[in-house]
Amino acid sequence: PSAKTIFSGIQPTGVPHLGNYLGALRQWVGLQNEASSDTTLIYSLVDLHAITIRQDPKQLRQWKKESLAMLLAIGLNPQRSIIFHQSDVPAHAELMWILSCQASTGYLGRMTQWKDKTAEKDGSEKLKLGLFSYPVLQAADVLIHGATHVPVGHDQAQHLEFARQIANGFNEVYGEAILTPPETLISPAKRIMSLTEPERKMSKSHPNPKSRILLTDPDDVIRSKIKSAITDSHKSITYEPARRPGVSNLLDIFYHSGESVETESQEALAAHMDGLSMRALKEEVAMAVIEVIRPIRERYERLVQDEATLKAVAEEGAEKAAISAAVTMRHVKRAVGL
Ligand code: ADP
Ligand code: NA
Repeated sequence: PSAKTIFSGIQPTGVPHLGNYLGALRQWVGLQNEASSDTTLIYSLVDLHAITIRQDPKQLRQWKKESLAMLLAIGLNPQRSIIFHQSDVPAHAELMWILSCQASTGYLGRMTQWKDKTAEKDGSEKLKLGLFSYPVLQAADVLIHGATHVPVGHDQAQHLEFARQIANGFNEVYGEAILTPPETLISPAKRIMSLTEPERKMSKSHPNPKSRILLTDPDDVIRSKIKSAITDSHKSITYEPARRPGVSNLLDIFYHSGESVETESQEALAAHMDGLSMRALKEEVAMAVIEVIRPIRERYERLVQDEATLKAVAEEGAEKAAISAAVTMRHVKRAVGL
């Protein structure tokens, strides 16, 4: 069948930043707006993933609401896309358990993100089982809806490969085509890096708030964060991510933000901008980013006040997602003997 199901998720662990938007969320909206009528789109606020790190309960509840308002503000339409909080559909956790009985601990231990975490910590006492096994939950998220296509950033490609392996392994053991191995849609935008440490990716959890631009930042805050972004003392403007990560990140941001940018590559953009001072380049970048964020922020400010709409969207999304999940769960449980 030609019918497509698109699934993706974001952790409600803070207001999404420019990296989330350019690297992931913008593609979600693009896929929605280009989708043919036989495409199902499912986007989840993955709160069960958020608690792999300890969260303040009040703060998490607030973030969940804000993240939902943001998904609407960027242009997701709940009439078209199913938008829901992961924990409102318990079948995600249920399928995770069943897949856990299938998943290889050796394979999980070789995941880059887990290896990075174990390298940071002294001994495994403090490391939690949920952090180790969360790729199994990610696999369940995707497989439970029979997703055929999963748009993610580069950092998630390995986890999607794992989801495919689990699906194929399950099908081999229990019979053909119960689970659908999904295709990965890698975001066209590069990783957006931190403004204060351009060797690291822009992230929600970095302690320095000046390292990221939030989709809620007012114009003057955006301008001041970009103004204080770390660059270097070279006079020219060139695109060399390894040697000049700061300037190159600004060019990436400009390149991916500007609807009006007509150059074919970041190198061509650098050549076009060469001769400008770093200060002038930053002003150009800030203007492009402000144009992207301002309308999103304005819609967000209205939506986040509208408790009734947010509640209705979450309830309706959870209902639809539960129906979608139930189809797979019925087949899986029958196959396993539950
Ligand atoms: P974060 O890493 O900021 O907590 P999530 O893990 O919730 O964000 O990721 C949500 C989506 O945003 C994922 O598809 C991820 O690949 C993408 N993403 C996160 N950070 C960046 C970044 N700095 N640049 C590009 N894409 C990103
Ligand atoms: Na991430």
